[in-house]
Amino acid sequence: MTESITITDNRNGESYEIPIVNGGVSATEWSKILPGIWFLDPGFLSTAAAESQITYLDGTAGILRYRGYPIEQLAEGSTYLEVAYLLLNGELPTESQFEQWRHDVTYHTFIHENVRKRFLEGFHYDAHPMGMLVSAVAALSTFYLDAKDIFDPAARQKQIMRLIAKMPTLAAAAHRFSVGMPFVYPDNSLDFPSNFLSMMWKVAEPHYQPDPALSRALDILFILHADHEQNCSTTAMRVVGSSHADPYSACAAACAALYGPRHGGANEAVIRMLTEIGSIENVPAFISEVKSGHGHVRLQGFGHRVYKNYDPRAKIIKRTADEVFAVTGKNPLLDIALKLEEIALSDEYFTSRRLYPNVDFYSGLIYQAMGFPLEMFPVLFAIARTAGWLAHWQEMLDQDSKIARPRQVYVGSGPRDYVPIGLRSA
Ligand code: CMC
Repeated sequence: MTESITITDNRNGESYEIPIVNGGVSATEWSKILPGIWFLDPGFLSTAAAESQITYLDGTAGILRYRGYPIEQLAEGSTYLEVAYLLLNGELPTESQFEQWRHDVTYHTFIHENVRKRFLEGFHYDAHPMGMLVSAVAALSTFYLDAKDIFDPAARQKQIMRLIAKMPTLAAAAHRFSVGMPFVYPDNSLDFPSNFLSMMWKVAEPHYQPDPALSRALDILFILHADHEQNCSTTAMRVVGSSHADPYSACAAACAALYGPRHGGANEAVIRMLTEIGSIENVPAFISEVKSGHGHVRLQGFGHRVYKNYDPRAKIIKRTADEVFAVTGKNPLLDIALKLEEIALSDEYFTSRRLYPNVDFYSGLIYQAMGFPLEMFPVLFAIARTAGWLAHWQEMLDQDSKIARPRQVYVGSGPRDYVPIGLRSA
C-alpha cells in the first residue's frame, strides 16, 4: 500500500494527495497548493535537507550506522582510514583497494612549504589552532588549481585524498606553531593516527613511535566522529558546495561551522565546566544551577538535537577512556563527570527533556589525558569529520542538486521613504 497524506485547501475545497516516500513528504508538492506561502523552519527542526545513503541515525533508539554498518562494529574492528573509504565509496574496501587507498593518503600527507612558512607562521603567536585550520584549509584551494574541476572524476578524487591526508598535517602544524615547537614532517612509515601523534609530539628522537593503545584510542575517536549525517558543519559543506565552490573552500566553511561551542567546541566546554566545578562535592550545587538557569547554564556534553537517548558514541568513548587512562593515568576530572552523569540521569529535569550524555561528554577527558591542549579539541574533530564532509559533498554533486537558497518570511517594516541624514530626528 502506498502511504500518503491527503490535504484539503479550505479556500476552494480542492484535495491533494501527497505520497510519503521513505518517511518524508516532498515540500515541492506541498508548495504547489500553497503558492507564495513558505514553510517556516528556522534551524531546520522539521526539514530534511537531502536524501542521503551515507549515515543512518535513529535518535530515539540510539542507533548510528555508516553505510549500514553499526558504529559499534566499526569502532571494534575497523580503522579510520577504512571507515573514510567506506563513507566515500559506499562499500568496505577489498585488501588491494585498501592498500591503494592507504598508499595514496599516506603519500599526500605533505603540505606545500609555503602553506606552513607563509601562512601558518604568519599568524599571531597566540592564534587559536582552529582559526588557523579554517584559514589554512581555504588557502589550499589556491595551491591546487585543478580543485575547481569538481565534475572531473580524477581531479575530484585527488582533492578528496589531499584533504583527508593533509588535515592532520595542518592540525599538528597549527599546534606546533602555537607552542613554539618546530614543525615535524609526516612519517610515511606510520599509520594514520600514529603519524598524527608523531607530528604532534616528536621532539628529538629519530623515529617517534606512539603507545599503540593511544594510537588505537585516537583512531576509535576518529571513527566515532567521522560522520553524523546532516549536522551543522556538514550542512555548511553542502550549502557552500551547492554553489559549486571548490572542496577546499567548502571544507573551510564546514570547519568554521565546527568551531562554534554548540557543535565542535562542546568537548572543550565540558572540560572547562568540569574544571570550574572542581570537586565531586560541588556537583549537586552545579546541577541545581543548571536547573534553575532556564537554559542559560547548560550541562555541557548533554543533550542533542537528534539523540533523545544515550548517544551510542558516548558509550564506546566511555570504554575507550578506561583503556587510555590505563596508559596515561586517570584524568582527575573523570570522577566529577561520572557523578554529574549519575545525578543527571536520575533527575526529572534531564529525564523529562530526554537529555543524555553526547559524544563530547567523555571525549575531552581522553584528549586531555593524552596531552592535547583544549584548543586542539575542535581541530581533532575536524580531522575526523573531513571524511564525512567529503562524502556528503560528493553525494550532493552526484545528485545534481540545486543551489541551496531558502526562502524567508519577511517581518520587517513596510515601504517608507528615504530621509536625508540632516533631516532625521534623534
Ligand atoms: N543542559 C541543560 N538543559 C538543556 C541542555 C543542557 N545541556 N540541553 C538542552 N537543555 C534544555 C533546554 O534548556 C530546553 O529546556 P526548556 O524546554 O525548558 O526550554 C530543552 O532542554 C530543549 O533544548 P534545546 O536547546 O531546544 O535543544 P536543541 O535541540 O536546540 O539543542 C544542543 C541541542 C546540543 C545545542 C543542546 O542540547 C546543548 O546546548 N547541549 C550542550 C552543548 C553540547 O553538548 N553540544 C554538543 C552536541 S553533540 C556534538 C555535535 O553534534 O557537535
